Amino acid sequence: MIGFDPQTSCFFLSGKNFSYVFAVNGVGMLQHLYYGHQIAASDAAFLIKAHGEAYAPQADDLNYDMRTDDMLSECGSFARGDFREPTVVVERADGARMSRFCYHSHKIVKGALPLKGMPCARKADETLVVTLKDDFSEVEIDLKYTVSEDSDVLVRSLAVRNGGSDPVQVKKAFSFCAELPDTRRNFSALRLTGSWAKERAPVLSPLAEGILRLHSSRGYSSHQMNPFLALLEENAGEEMGECYGFALLYSGSFAMTAECSHNGSIRVQGGISDELFGWKLCAGEVLETPQAALCYSREGLGGMSRAYHDFFRESIIDPKYVHARRPVVVNNWEATYFDFDNEKLFAIIDEAAKLGIDTFVLDDGWFGKRDSDTSGLGDWVVNGHKLKGGLQAVIDRCKQKGLRFGLWFEPEMVSEDSDLFRAHPDWAIAKAGVEPCRGRNQLILDFTRKEVVDHVFAAVSKVLRENDISYVKWDKNRDMTENYSASLSPERQGEFWHRYALGFYDLAKRLTEAFPEVFFEGCAGGGGRFDGGALYYFPQIWTSDDTDGMERTKIQWGTSILYPLSSMSCHVSACPNHQTQRTTPFFTRGAIASLGATGYELDLSKLSFEEKEQVKAQIENYKRIDELVLKGDLYRLSDPFHTNYFCEMLVAKDKSRAYLVGEQFRADPCDHSRVLRLQGLDAGTIYCVEELGLKASGGALMDAGLILPHLGDCGAWGLHIEKA
Ligand code: DGJ
Repeated sequence: MIGFDPQTSCFFLSGKNFSYVFAVNGVGMLQHLYYGHQIAASDAAFLIKAHGEAYAPQADDLNYDMRTDDMLSECGSFARGDFREPTVVVERADGARMSRFCYHSHKIVKGALPLKGMPCARKADETLVVTLKDDFSEVEIDLKYTVSEDSDVLVRSLAVRNGGSDPVQVKKAFSFCAELPDTRRNFSALRLTGSWAKERAPVLSPLAEGILRLHSSRGYSSHQMNPFLALLEENAGEEMGECYGFALLYSGSFAMTAECSHNGSIRVQGGISDELFGWKLCAGEVLETPQAALCYSREGLGGMSRAYHDFFRESIIDPKYVHARRPVVVNNWEATYFDFDNEKLFAIIDEAAKLGIDTFVLDDGWFGKRDSDTSGLGDWVVNGHKLKGGLQAVIDRCKQKGLRFGLWFEPEMVSEDSDLFRAHPDWAIAKAGVEPCRGRNQLILDFTRKEVVDHVFAAVSKVLRENDISYVKWDKNRDMTENYSASLSPERQGEFWHRYALGFYDLAKRLTEAFPEVFFEGCAGGGGRFDGGALYYFPQIWTSDDTDGMERTKIQWGTSILYPLSSMSCHVSACPNHQTQRTTPFFTRGAIASLGATGYELDLSKLSFEEKEQVKAQIENYKRIDELVLKGDLYRLSDPFHTNYFCEMLVAKDKSRAYLVGEQFRADPCDHSRVLRLQGLDAGTIYCVEELGLKASGGALMDAGLILPHLGDCGAWGLHIEKA
């Protein structure tokens, strides 16, 4: 619900459980009044009086500009008395950079607003657009707020428009500014950090005076820092307490800041990285910023995660795929790496068919001159030496065995030893005269250039058109350097990162629209581009290259803080694990992989009879529980970072059934912390815990709990809980 009261000039927004309130104050600025648990619209007058007037600058006060430094604002201004981080900074033709944006007009429209060239919420009830005008130039900003009655997520973004006749330079354009009074709540900041093979580990630290800055300058969202920040009040935990989430629906270099200021408030902002950003905006042009998804929960982090999961499933992920049974794939990467031929692949395909796997995905190495990672990228033509009979022979084998076929691409990259590079050396990101940094022996194609994106679209499309391919794995294996495009004029080099992201989205949009029957999986050297923008095009993303049965619990736990389980590709791989050298039971690897889109990443032909029987059982189990993975509510019960157990539970929305997976890391005969209290069940309903032969009320299972079985090192259990 979005309301506007002309008497008080107050905007009142509500979603499922939250309210968000701001008003035009006496000096024409948008003053923030409230963000938190839902309150009645009739309380707007109280908010204006009690909260607004306390900090409102008065127009008849000669020094009122300086009072804006105390005010909670919907859009931080620059060099006009508000000394906190600005939201938008514009430099005029004369070099002046001061700005203060005041209310001009607004409109409330039905539904979500499309965002040209970028991912955006697909559906919503209403959108408010408030237009602000700069006091000193012809620049205008549209602040956009999108809400739905059934969601705890508020979607925000802004657009900067040059209404004048001279070009201006936008020096900074974040997507949103949100302010929270911190009084007595003592917020801590949670972020998802990591590295290759260790993505999205949650780190919580107290906020203190100054600015907390999360960012990526790697040209994509990155393994190191997810574009997400949550603020947790002092007493908030997994199950209870107030949490605010801020997630960018963006895959490019980004920045997010939380500034604890002198007035006791926290200003949270984020969007396109402002590091050396600059965007030349000519007369009449508009710069759109990516969307951000804000979420309020007073059911702790768990409640926040469930609200985000619903949002991603209902509004971001392609509706065609979001609730559809996901293919159970076997991928040949860890089975063969670059060293394969028809025989090796056929052995995997034949075994896959016997075990009930439905899709075979051919990974890196099928194209060009690609026997190692030093060559071939960019040449999307089958390597006939390796694959006798080309892709067709592999596809025919899949078809004979009743399997579908998937193929790996790394569309954004080029090897110097490739026909593409020899023909177009200038298409790689580089600056003439400067030796480019290499990553995994490769360079990145300059996706700020339309002709480069057009070429890749044509090359990938040709392969998809000429072959029966139902699945594409879209990889990306290096960070960006140089940050320079030969095709951009000097004053436009600050546009580079965002233009690259727009080029990536352009290709993703064109390919997914041209091949709607192809399922696209995202990947970036594991989970380096696991973000809300990528999920718009890729219903699931390869979560991490670390497939170890123990490490994986942490990666999946951290990823689930924001992203739904169905968006995580989770594969069972061989032991000793290729990343950690650890050996974990086959059952454990399958149980952990069942908490996501399950698949396999090993040479099936080398499995023992018992392991093959387990694969069959795992696939049967997955078919039984995949509705819960696709649509259920997640409860995280035992934290793998701080306890000897990992445990997560999926509960059907109607609470008729649940599925629980746990792992014990170290065997411990004297472990007295084995009581596991379940969550999310209906207290009055009687449930059967199938594997334990127990019957109990949801209340007893949640309050008294289960006693976990003793297991060996890295032992796991999976429990099916059904209404009796
Ligand atoms: C990185 C991915 O994460 C792996 O799964 C695999 O596809 C390799 N790249 C191939 O180069």
